[in-house]
Amino acid sequence: MTEAQWTAVDGYVTELLIPKEPALDEALRASAEAGLPPNQVSPAQGKLLHLLARAQGARAILEIGTLGGYSTIWLARALPADGRLVTIETDPKHAEVASTNIARAGLAHLAEVRTGNALDILPQLAAERREPFDLIFIDADKTGTPDYFKWALDLARVGSVIIVDNVVRKGALADFRDSDPNVVAMRQFHELLSVERRVSATTIQTVGTKGYDGFTLALVLDQNSR
Ligand code: SAH
Ligand code: DHB
Ligand code: MG
Repeated sequence: MTEAQWTAVDGYVTELLIPKEPALDEALRASAEAGLPPNQVSPAQGKLLHLLARAQGARAILEIGTLGGYSTIWLARALPADGRLVTIETDPKHAEVASTNIARAGLAHLAEVRTGNALDILPQLAAERREPFDLIFIDADKTGTPDYFKWALDLARVGSVIIVDNVVRKGALADFRDSDPNVVAMRQFHELLSVERRVSATTIQTVGTKGYDGFTLALVLDQNSR
């Protein structure tokens, strides 16, 4: 299978199953116009996040890594009218573009962009002691993933779902000669998962418009029940 085929299949699926949404298209357009890197999830991945949040009955969602708010909009649209989403973004320009995109999507009352380094904001969120997050999407700087995952566990409840993007890294995850810090961090993350009694997890490889990568899905459990 070639990358052209992956893209064609994504196009086919998107055309049939993902109706054009002005707010999402506008978010992509505004993000590109502002010069943001095109690193948002694909439409098919965005819809997967949306469906997982709905299947989960999520009322509170945490996202780490906002960019222009594309995945944020997909996730926030899964929330009930009194739901809550917090998304963390370190780059003020990204945060501003995202806030505009979220407001244009009519989701400003549900989704709050917190500007700052996730390692500063996550302890703040823990200190606020609000309701736990039902779904957590980790998609910021890849070297931070092991730390973000530990914080996610603190901010979750039994039954929460934690999703981590970009863990397969074109297969480098299992190429032990590859010492790229992003790859090493994802291996560290998997080692952490393998000994963490509070979650049961799997990693799924993906191909599509964003090439070859993958994501991890972890379910938070009662200790020792996996
Ligand atoms: N979730 C987005 C894509 C996020 S791209 C989507 O799918 O639409 C990763 C984002 O994480 C970038 O905007 C980057 O600025 C941000 N980021 C990088 N390091 C960060 C950190 N330490 N804390 C918070 N955000 C960070
Ligand atoms: C890239 C892709 C991502 O999904 C992400 O979160 C960050 C960067 C990339 O393709 O470079
Ligand atoms: Mg990503």
